[in-house]
Amino acid sequence: MELSVFLLLAFLTGLLLLLARGHPKAQGRLPPGPRPLPIFGNLLQMDRRGLLKFFLRLRDKYGDVFTVYFGPRPVVMLCGIEAIREALVDQSEAFSGRGKVAVVDPVFQGYGVVFANGKRWKTLRQFSLTTMKDFGMGKRGVEELIQEEAQCLVEELRKPQGELQDPTFLFYSITANVICSIVFGERFAYRDPEFLKLLDMFYQTFTLTSSFSSQVFEFFSDILKYFPGTHRQIYRNLQEINAFIGRSVEKHRETLDPSTPRDFIDTYLLHMDKEKSDPNSEFHQQNLIITALSLFFAGTETTSTTLRYGFLFLLKYPHVAERVHREIDQVIGSHRPPALNDRAKMPYTDAVIHEIQRCGDILPLGLPHVVTKDILFRGYIIPKDTAVFPILSSALQDPRYFEKPDTFNPDHFLDANGALKKNEAFIPFSLGKRICLGEGIARTELFLFFTTILQNFSVASPVAPEDIDLTPQENGVGKVPPTYQIRFLSR
Ligand code: HEM
Repeated sequence: MELSVFLLLAFLTGLLLLLARGHPKAQGRLPPGPRPLPIFGNLLQMDRRGLLKFFLRLRDKYGDVFTVYFGPRPVVMLCGIEAIREALVDQSEAFSGRGKVAVVDPVFQGYGVVFANGKRWKTLRQFSLTTMKDFGMGKRGVEELIQEEAQCLVEELRKPQGELQDPTFLFYSITANVICSIVFGERFAYRDPEFLKLLDMFYQTFTLTSSFSSQVFEFFSDILKYFPGTHRQIYRNLQEINAFIGRSVEKHRETLDPSTPRDFIDTYLLHMDKEKSDPNSEFHQQNLIITALSLFFAGTETTSTTLRYGFLFLLKYPHVAERVHREIDQVIGSHRPPALNDRAKMPYTDAVIHEIQRCGDILPLGLPHVVTKDILFRGYIIPKDTAVFPILSSALQDPRYFEKPDTFNPDHFLDANGALKKNEAFIPFSLGKRICLGEGIARTELFLFFTTILQNFSVASPVAPEDIDLTPQENGVGKVPPTYQIRFLSR
């Protein structure tokens, strides 16, 4: 047989095999979705405006539960609070696996609390929760820690005396310092060059991870990983942060006093020592570094991005900022710092923070899950290890739960008497066994940082409110707000 004929036959056979592999019927009885092409899956149908728009368009056609092929890999999408709850809460164990995010996978490789699975994840989640409680919510108290950080921030914001500034790195610094105090036992000065370099790497990494090219990479990582691209930059950034964490771990080792662990790393090192004769122990160096990286990244990025969106909304809607000022003046006054127990007496401010999180919608696709066994879900059979995305944005923007989902309006969270109204579709921290581990810390930070800043400053923009553009810079795995300049004017 001629070589060219042989190659053609081989190609056609391969194509047929891929077609069979790509067909949903061959893989359990997956939810419906657009027909995938061999190799490409549904890549070529993807919306140029990104994955979220693409998924929402498919939802209109296929309903709340559908399948998209990322290359040859089927991924099940869950839209709307009902489907998300039925999966993550009603079948919580089966949906508790963690899927991969292709652009960061070479660094995390299934280690650390965010990307681990099975026994490793259970051990690290339990350990992280208790230890963060001990070094945040226990002894000194996370509230006190955040109050102190908020006062340092106020000092820093006074320095430019009302000049325009971009708040991005200050917001990064304060949220990173809260995590650093718990994990590393130290906070950093806002102008420390090493600290600023680390924060810049976080910022670049989050922006690159959310870019269009990273979304394409998600479909095609098996091939694209061999070519240059943003994934390489992301890898270098995260490895550099890991090197910083590694140096901190070495310093902790040298000064460790077993009778008085000072922070998360000390406590982990003591566990490592206790289990050193157990070859199956999850307390090893790699899980330590990657868990510290995970907490650092998950804790810094999300909360600071929410703060950035928050002040952008306050600049765009000055009447909202004025009402928050009035509530602060009535409930807290100006002679003491805000405290967490003020929150229950400040429904308007609380509603504003809820609305900032709802409209900010900073992790629109949630984080990927995988099913831990073959399961029956809404009449479909989803095979073990299939990836599942709970599309959080579809709940946060649902017109059945929020009267005008496209409009920033704190009334979405207020009842007729002006009391805070809970809404079951409000799930920025997700649901179920993988629910955000830092929710308590994040909510405390958002309340104390917003109120402390607004107790001390009013905010102004050089751009007229109606001209302030809220269009995100990137909208992929994460939603990155546009950069802006702001004046903090002493009150
Ligand atoms: C406004 C701030 C925050 C938001 C909106 C947020 C949101 C989320 C979301 C949507 C997830 C994925 C849940 C899922 O898999 O279904 C998550 C996971 C996680 N978050 Fe947060 N988060 C925030 C702040 C924080 C903070 C401050 C920390 C650390 C102290 C943190 C630590 C984590 C960790 C460790 C996970 C992984 C949990 C696991 O896989 O078991 N987050 N977060």
